[in-house]
Amino acid sequence: MNTDDTKKKVMIIGTRSKVAEAVVRILRAELNASLVLISSADNLVGDIDGVALYTVKHHDYKQFKEIAMKELPSVLINCAAMTDVDACEIDKEGAWSANVTLVENFLRAGKSIDAHCIHFSTDYIFDGKNGPYIENDTANPINYYGRTKLAAENVCHSSGVDCTILRTNVVYGHSTYRHTDFVHWVINKLDMGKPFKVVDDQYGNPTFTDDIALAVKKIIDKKRVGIYNLSGKEYCNRFEFAKMIAKVFSYDSTLINSITSEELGQKSPRPKRAGLVNLKAETDLQMKFSDVISGVTTLRHQMQMWGK
Ligand SMILES: NC(=O)c1ccc[n+]([C@@H]2O[C@H](COP(=O)([O-])OP(=O)(O)OC[C@H]3O[C@@H](n4cnc5c(N)ncnc54)[C@H](OP(=O)(O)O)[C@@H]3O)[C@@H](O)[C@H]2O)c1
Repeated sequence: MNTDDTKKKVMIIGTRSKVAEAVVRILRAELNASLVLISSADNLVGDIDGVALYTVKHHDYKQFKEIAMKELPSVLINCAAMTDVDACEIDKEGAWSANVTLVENFLRAGKSIDAHCIHFSTDYIFDGKNGPYIENDTANPINYYGRTKLAAENVCHSSGVDCTILRTNVVYGHSTYRHTDFVHWVINKLDMGKPFKVVDDQYGNPTFTDDIALAVKKIIDKKRVGIYNLSGKEYCNRFEFAKMIAKVFSYDSTLINSITSEELGQKSPRPKRAGLVNLKAETDLQMKFSDVISGVTTLRHQMQMWGK
């Protein structure tokens, strides 16, 4: 691993993702680092002076390695993934390519320049029978998205690279690129003013992207490798989460009604008692994760400042 602390160079893949958006903002503000941002799109927006931007096809290993060799970052962060759980069930080839093959390429590039590689994973690698889960609980995915993400974790373990796996769940945060998340979905529904239903038997810890980004900064600072759970303070189901969102945004919460997963019938099965225990991250990285009310309140302020 590169041990030069004076000026780090961090390369991020999947720059338009919700998580990357917060990571870029926090690293620019709080880490003495220069950034190399990689996206499949050519419409990166915002205050990005002094940042190297590349548009690549994420699966083009040759192009990706050329950029890594040219820029020589000491840290590589992969935020790219196919995150639509139902779409992964339908397009298995696409899901494998985005969530596993891309990670193999990411790690190969990292290895070629001796970089610290940071990769994101999920609580959906577990079956949801007895969450929330700690880092070394046994994985048993029940849907294709979870299988691809577990396969990618295994690729990280066998890569021989200094690698950090950051597992997270029920992520919400500001997205300049209008990437939807549960909070935005609920707000849109409440805006319509009609009753709607939310499952009350899928549990997790809603996690604010700004907290994830702060943890990434600390992981880089402390050069931590291994698995870390990054998850919000509160363990709740989606119905309870939706009610709290309505409260923060001053909507009529009686529009929200509960439904079971069986009644809803999503294309892909979901782990019910999922979620992650964040004790290792809280103690080792010395950080506190937001509860729902404080995280969503900060997001509300961000939406007022930066737009929905
Ligand atoms: N969202 C959640 O609730 C959640 C929960 C647990 C774990 N995670 C993990 O956290 C990481 C970031 O998630 P996120 O929600 O921030 O992501 P996101 O907003 O859905 O964005 C994912 C990004 O991945 C790239 N991408 C999308 N489809 C792709 C494909 N088929 N092939 C290659 N790249 C593709 C795109 O980057 P560009 O547009 O820049 O090319 C896209 O912006 C992922 O690893 C995800 O599995 C997320």
